[in-house]
Amino acid sequence: MTNLQALCLLPILALANMFVKISGSSSIHPELTGPDMAYLNSRVVFNCSTPNYPLPVTYELIRDSGVRIDVRMNLQRDQPALFSLKVSATSEGSYHCKATTKRSTGVSNSIRLSVVTPASNTRVTSEPFPPVAYEGSRVILSCDVAKGSHLSYTWFFNKQEVTSSVSPFFHPTGNKLVMEMVTPEHAGWYYCEAWSIVQGNKRVSSSTVVQVTVKVYISKPKISFSISKVGASYFGNVTCWSSRGSPPVNFSLSLDGKEVGSETANEYLSAWFPVTMTPGMDMGVAQCWVKTELQELMSEPLTLEVVPVGGDMKVKVEYLYRADSTLAATRLHCQVSRGTFPYISWLLNDSVLPSKMHVDSYIQPGLPHYVLTNLSRTLILSELGQENTGYYRCRARDSYNDSGPWVESAAVLVPVTDRIWNCLPQAPSSTEIQSHALLATIEVITVVFCCFLLLMLAAGGVCVYRMFDHQQALTHTAVINSDEVPQSAPTFQSGGRPNTSSTDCDTQDQIEEITV
Ligand SMILES: *[C@@H]1O[C@H](CO)[C@@H](O)[C@H](O)[C@H]1NC(C)=O
Ligand SMILES: *[C@@H]1O[C@H](CO)[C@@H](O)[C@H](O)[C@H]1NC(C)=O
Repeated sequence: MTNLQALCLLPILALANMFVKISGSSSIHPELTGPDMAYLNSRVVFNCSTPNYPLPVTYELIRDSGVRIDVRMNLQRDQPALFSLKVSATSEGSYHCKATTKRSTGVSNSIRLSVVTPASNTRVTSEPFPPVAYEGSRVILSCDVAKGSHLSYTWFFNKQEVTSSVSPFFHPTGNKLVMEMVTPEHAGWYYCEAWSIVQGNKRVSSSTVVQVTVKVYISKPKISFSISKVGASYFGNVTCWSSRGSPPVNFSLSLDGKEVGSETANEYLSAWFPVTMTPGMDMGVAQCWVKTELQELMSEPLTLEVVPVGGDMKVKVEYLYRADSTLAATRLHCQVSRGTFPYISWLLNDSVLPSKMHVDSYIQPGLPHYVLTNLSRTLILSELGQENTGYYRCRARDSYNDSGPWVESAAVLVPVTDRIWNCLPQAPSSTEIQSHALLATIEVITVVFCCFLLLMLAAGGVCVYRMFDHQQALTHTAVINSDEVPQSAPTFQSGGRPNTSSTDCDTQDQIEEITV
């Protein structure tokens, strides 16, 4: 029984022994290490090894479909099997190694080697070319290389790196920088870098700098004119200008529909045209035209007529209060009824107030403290004192005619004493008057209606009273007209007193505060 078992085991043991021997001899597993990327013309080293495998072993480096590149044999113990290759354009492919002993052969893992060509001759091309575009249009810049593979791209705008997170107006994709809707902020200098990196070794090729120009659409032109006197004759000057736009632009002037002049503005967005002008005469309707390669716009029409200064002159006085109801300033307006180019000056007690006053030097001994604004149409007395008190007058003449006659207003007494100031009505500002004009109208209607009601009640009361007492008759009427509705400011008659009543002293209206 045991013999039979032993007999049966023998072939199994023999088979097992054989299997062990076969498997032992074919268990050579070489391993290939080396780079998967390399620059063209560089050197790469592959290392094939079979750790702890008894020598001798023959190593072969094999490419793709079995092309043998090189062989290493008769290596000493622990000596690596190194294969050094110069990388050419044709080196790209899969590599593996084969290890062979007398009894067995093993094949390694494979490594795919990519050949990286560094970028060269990098330049920026654009669409449109040259990169000049109107605001709102699209500009695409491309970073093009003559040679290169495995490239990444970096864009620079005015020497700053462009990243889409930093500037949402830029969309770098691949080798392109897309600007969908350019704005004047996109105008500037651009360049790109094409680069690759292999084993931490970066190779960069930079382009030259390219200027991107963003053109601005021209705005509707404006028109104005001036007049000056040269000798005995007058000279008119019509100016056309646009507030935005990219030069060059062409300005032209038409007079009554006929072109009378044309000029190309290369630097500034304005042009001027001489025209004949006679004060008091209508010289026609002028209009400015502006043209660019894309646009043509015209200004509003303007009648070229210079009306000489004339008619009535008036001074209007306005008082401005602080929040604490004290007077801050007195504002005098000169109202000229006629005149296109009036030159205005002011007189105090018949002596002329100098008009060329600077804010920082307006305090001069012997002169009242004042500021002139609005082309001298407004005189602001900011200090309250005796030197500001007096008779104010304004006068005007044609600004283009130094020897022309003056037209004068009547004198207005501006009394400036503390006693009067403390008892002036609280005047709302003129803007308040405007905003409350509607309210005032409603108030007047309400008051009139209430008065009517009161009158009816009074009349009814009287009737009832009369019914009871025929001896006594009482009538009570009140008349309110719009003149008695509180005014914006007390008006002064020439040489008179302010028409204010002391009962107004305690009203607490909201007061405009000004700084002069
Ligand atoms: C005409 O007016 C423009 C702008 O106001 C000015 O620049 C130009 O010098 C004037 N021309 C003459 C001849 O005065
Ligand atoms: C102007 O004249 C009035 C009245 O004669 C006088 O009270 C006032 O002080 C004068 N003002 C100046 C600044 O001379």
